[in-house]
Amino acid sequence: MLNEKNIQIIKSTVPVLEVHGTAITKRFYERMFTQHPELLHIFNHANQKQGRQQTALANAVYAAAVHIDNLAEILPVVKQIGHKHRSLGIKPEHYPIVGENLLAAIKEVLGDAATDEILGAWAEAYGVIADAFIGIEAEMYEQSREQVGGWADFRPFIVEKKVQESDVITSFYLVPQDGQALATFEPGQYISVKLEIPGERYTHIRQYSLSDAPGRPYYRISVKREEANAEKPAGIVSTYLHEGIREGDVLQLSAPAGDFTLEQSEAPVVLISGGVGLTPMFSMLASLAEKQQRPVTFIHAAQNGQKHALRAEVERLAKDNPQISAYWCYSEPTEQDREAGAFHKEGYLDAEWLEQVAPEKNASYYFCGPVPFMSAVKKALTERGISAERMHYEFFGPAASL
Ligand code: HEM
Repeated sequence: MLNEKNIQIIKSTVPVLEVHGTAITKRFYERMFTQHPELLHIFNHANQKQGRQQTALANAVYAAAVHIDNLAEILPVVKQIGHKHRSLGIKPEHYPIVGENLLAAIKEVLGDAATDEILGAWAEAYGVIADAFIGIEAEMYEQSREQVGGWADFRPFIVEKKVQESDVITSFYLVPQDGQALATFEPGQYISVKLEIPGERYTHIRQYSLSDAPGRPYYRISVKREEANAEKPAGIVSTYLHEGIREGDVLQLSAPAGDFTLEQSEAPVVLISGGVGLTPMFSMLASLAEKQQRPVTFIHAAQNGQKHALRAEVERLAKDNPQISAYWCYSEPTEQDREAGAFHKEGYLDAEWLEQVAPEKNASYYFCGPVPFMSAVKKALTERGISAERMHYEFFGPAASL
């Protein structure tokens, strides 16, 4: 535990570091990857290019530092990051590398303002924060290893079946190559896929939500092909999965992780998704359908019918289970969609329409999708008077704020 003086130093320097946050973390990554290029096999290069990871890591270190005298207060956040780290295969020996490079970057950017006293306090604080992460992640590795059908690190899976779900989304049905048991999971959890792509210097690791209920003899992921646009090039991994990976190929998977899961309750559930954000939502829906208790409203927003994945599966569940209802919102329906009466709302989700299709005030709301979509859903639910405790959401990629 840090002494009172060092706690004060940390708390008083957090705002200074925040001002220089991006410069420090940028320098930190440059240093770290020069000295430890092997870490480029673990980090997501696309997130690096967009600066999203820099912001997430910087924010997490400073948030932890503010609570340095009571880290228990931010335990849920530490656990959420721990899930991600465990799923990526981050180990205790990685922490000193991050610590050393972060300290050196702080020193470089702050110059003379970074006195030995300040740097000493930060070195100690980083040690305390790292120990908290290492401890939680050790428990998570242990749980994954001990669970029936579970494993630590990566395990080879065969692509048993590949199914095109829409113009842009394809499902992969994955079974363990060793033919042994398959760990169960909580609907809403994700796995990491580690890929060696021909022509790429480093391995790539990506997280995908499991898109079917637990208890099946396979894991299913449903992947959107990320096409190039004005802001970013085409997704290397999603393109390779769609075009390069065939039935019978082998993928390396880490065990299910993540804390975006259904809470224990009897309250009605409203599942709201945008685009490929429907994957964890469908897993939750399929699992709730098997329990046949809680009323469920499934709301999905897509551009149009051609981009709408898993529609038939959701409709079948809704037909077979009277407690489930499903609604579609298309932002740009095609003529064909109009003729077929294929959607319930045109345009974007808003508070008024949500009130119509999901009027229950006591429901639990789960949502997932692109960041602007999630902001719109959160705003609409807040306008309807839904409290923050009833809203649960997860970001694809590094966490952001809504
Ligand atoms: C992801 C914080 C140590 C590797 C993250 C995220 C945060 C974070 C906030 C984003 C989580 C999300 O996706 O929502 C921290 C903190 C650390 C720490 C506070 C130290 C106390 C490490 C270490 C490594 C590491 C030692 C390995 C060298 C990663 C990787 C990701 C990640 C590879 C995924 C990023 C990506 O998608 O590229 N970490 N981390 N972290 N962390 Fe850490």
